[in-house]
Amino acid sequence: MAVSFEGQSVVITGAGGGLGRAYALEIARLGGKVVVNDLGGATSGVAGGESTSFADKVVDEIRAAGGTAVANYDSVTTTEGGQAIVQTALDHFGRIDAVIANAGTMRYGDFESLTLEDLTSLLAVHVGGSWTVTQAAWPHMKRQGYGRVVFTTSSGGLLGNPSLSAYGAAKGGVMGLMHNLAEAGAPHGIICNGITPNAASRMTMEMSAGELGENPWSAKLPQYFDPRYTAGLVAYLSSKACTTHHGIYSMLCGRVGRAFIGYCDGYIQDAPIDADTIAAHWDRINDDTAGYSIVKNVTDEFRVVVAELRGLKV
Ligand code: NAI
Repeated sequence: MAVSFEGQSVVITGAGGGLGRAYALEIARLGGKVVVNDLGGATSGVAGGESTSFADKVVDEIRAAGGTAVANYDSVTTTEGGQAIVQTALDHFGRIDAVIANAGTMRYGDFESLTLEDLTSLLAVHVGGSWTVTQAAWPHMKRQGYGRVVFTTSSGGLLGNPSLSAYGAAKGGVMGLMHNLAEAGAPHGIICNGITPNAASRMTMEMSAGELGENPWSAKLPQYFDPRYTAGLVAYLSSKACTTHHGIYSMLCGRVGRAFIGYCDGYIQDAPIDADTIAAHWDRINDDTAGYSIVKNVTDEFRVVVAELRGLKV
């Protein structure tokens, strides 16, 4: 079955440029009715100079190509904003089938130079923004027994980079939110997944490769950093065709693959393990060649350790 959004309505936050714009164009091309949300503010998230033109331009592009879209300019950072964004879908299209939580801002630098305000600003847009819009859509998705949510995390949150402590903390928070909502949503037909994209955009262009320190690739291989590389993955994850939940998918240079969290089999004993014993078994504790498990959720970790590794019956 070809991926199609016929009869469906999709909210995409931060869709006035970069990755979000590519998602909006692709989903509209596949027949979806799209809410193009964008505050049109600074990449840093510092208030001032917001513009409706970001969202309007993408809506115009979609309409010019024969698609259906409506603009919304609310900020994802407040409960009221999240509700207004979802209400736009309900008012114009009568339903909400998918949320792509993509809106984001960036602050980076040495850990000592970043402030608590930088962190709270990033938490508000990435974690808060994913929370508010998904929470507003949730009861509608639950009622119809169907929904798709795509969360945008980042290799900064998954893997780390010396300059991205605040941004990575926020993106790690988004990943935690996805892990939990994936489990909460699945019984109601709400399928949640996450992505870690890599694309040239306003955000990444404003960060110089020199300052980031170890990301020269987008400058050297620009052809692979077109946001359109990520659009097919996000369209799939937000469509009926995707029936698997709780995955994190990385798109880099045209390679798409699932990222996962594995636990080494480690060291086991039947008494409290003191520091000397930990030190003595440190290699074993870290040895992923001696066996590891990919666990799906909190219960699954108990199952693996208690039933499989310890052989205990409960
Ligand atoms: P971008 O800066 O082009 O797009 C982000 C959009 O979000 C902007 O148009 C901005 O106006 C909008 N936005 C910011 N705050 C908002 C708010 N409070 N309410 C509504 N809209 C708001 O950047 P890009 O690269 O397209 O980023 C999209 C998402 O992908 C972000 O969450 C970013 O953190 C994430 N990401 C991007 C990567 C990349 O390589 N481009 C890598 C990893 C993650």
